[in-house]
This record gives sequence, C-alpha cells and structure tokens, in this order.
Amino acid sequence: MNETIRLLKAHRSVRKYDGRAVEDEKVEAIIEAAQWSATSSHYQAYSIIQVSDPDKRRLIAGVAGGQQWIVECPLFLVYCANLKRSKTFWEGLDPEVLGNTEMFIMATVDAALAAQKAFIAAQSLGLGGVFIGGIRNDLKTISSILDLPELVYPVFGMCLGYPAENNLQKPRLPKDVIHKQDGYSEEGDKALIADYNNLIRCYYSERTGGKEQFNWSEHCGSAMMSKTRDEVGEFIREKGFGLR
Ligand SMILES: Cc1cc2nc3c(=O)[nH]c(=O)nc-3n(C[C@H](O)[C@H](O)[C@H](O)COP(=O)(O)O)c2cc1C
Repeated sequence: MNETIRLLKAHRSVRKYDGRAVEDEKVEAIIEAAQWSATSSHYQAYSIIQVSDPDKRRLIAGVAGGQQWIVECPLFLVYCANLKRSKTFWEGLDPEVLGNTEMFIMATVDAALAAQKAFIAAQSLGLGGVFIGGIRNDLKTISSILDLPELVYPVFGMCLGYPAENNLQKPRLPKDVIHKQDGYSEEGDKALIADYNNLIRCYYSERTGGKEQFNWSEHCGSAMMSKTRDEVGEFIREKGFGLR
C-alpha cells in the first residue's frame, strides 16, 4: 500500500474541530486540488462557495437541522452544480439543452468529483471534515442565502477544520457486495449483508456505549424515510434544470 491509499482508507467524518483557523495557503491548495478533478467534456460545471459570514452560517445550520459544526468549523464550502456559466459563456449553444436530464447529471457529478478531491486534499493536509447534505432540507432558503441564480443549485456543503475527535471508522459493505464481474449480480449478497448487519449493530453499540442498537438495513431505511425531500425535484426544475 502507498501513502495515498493509506490516506483514502483512513477516512472518517469529523464533526468537532480544535478551534485553529485553516491557513489561507491550505484553503488555496484545497481549492486548486478540486480544480484538477476530471470533468465531463472539460465543462467544469460547478462552483465552490466559501461561506465565512457567521450569520449565513447560522442560517445554513438551521436549514440543516441544527448541525452546529456548520457554525463552528473554520472552513465551510458549498458545492454547487452550475450550468449558468455555460449559458453565459459558451458559444453556439441552444440554451434549451441545459434543461436536459443529462446536463443535470453532468453538473451534479462535476460538483461531487470536485468536492471529493477537495476533501482528500484537506485530509492530506491534516484536516478533517464532513459533507453536509442537510442543506437540501430547504434548497430555496439556501439559494436565497447564497444568492444563487437560475441554473445553479447547491448539491451539498462541506465542513473542514483541524480534528478534535478521532471516531471509530464506520465499517463499509463487504467488497464482494459492491464489486461485481462482467455484469450486475446479487449472488451471495444476502449472506454477506446479514453478516454486515451484525457488524454494524456492534459498531453503533460500541460507539454509543450500548445506547443505539440498529443494523445497517434498519439505519438506512429509517434515515431515508426521515428525509425524503419530496420538494427537491420541483425546486431543481424551477432553477432551470428541466429534467426532460
Ligand atoms: C453527500 C453527503 C452528504 C452528507 N450529509 C451529512 C450531513 O448533513 N450531516 C452529517 O453529519 N453527515 C453527513 N454526511 C456524512 C455521512 O453521514 C458519512 O459519510 C457516513 O455516515 C459514513 O461515515 P464516515 O464518513 O465517518 O465513514 C454526508 C455524506 C455525504 C457523502
């Protein structure tokens, strides 16, 4: 194993920070690393908004269900899918195509790839953090806080800072459940996921001193039902991502 893979495999989310600011040169390095993500057809259809204004942070934390680490982290970034730049700067474009589902996927993927690269860069610099999908609890309010125009939507946020905690790593699905050969298959998954459910039950129990006793299937089902965000589709369409 090399240093890069060791870093990738040491991943865990960090929600508590020690109060130190993130140095400007590190912020710059993180953003530059994000820029070197692969991007569909060189479109670079994303924007990264650094939010430093404490009032905006408080409002965003409120939208995300009171996630205090959004207020406390020294560096908070919001990754947006951005097709507005395409409409403004690209030549020979029929703006109608920007409403295609394909363009929505492309811009969302671009934002996510940039975010993951930024996250890894941050971890390599001794920082830790957590992605914040909770901003999608109310995309309208987030868009208004960040002045987002048509064809720009916030995919997720990201808290970064120097870690003040070192959580147990959350075990992942067995490799054979996610890695298949030559085509889709669920062969063997049932037994593997049953074992994994036992492992996750032990993990949550250990992490919470026995207070939480749920497995992966229970956790995911209940998490998904608690945030179905049924209004996201309508909002995205209002922003001009037509999803045709
Ligand atoms: C797109 C995305 C959105 C997430 N949103 C939140 C969030 O709003 N709040 C939070 O505390 N964690 C959030 N997370 C972190 C996940 O809960 C976490 O990555 C997952 O439980 C696995 O734990 P680990 O990162 O410590 O391995 C998010 C992760 C991703 C990738």
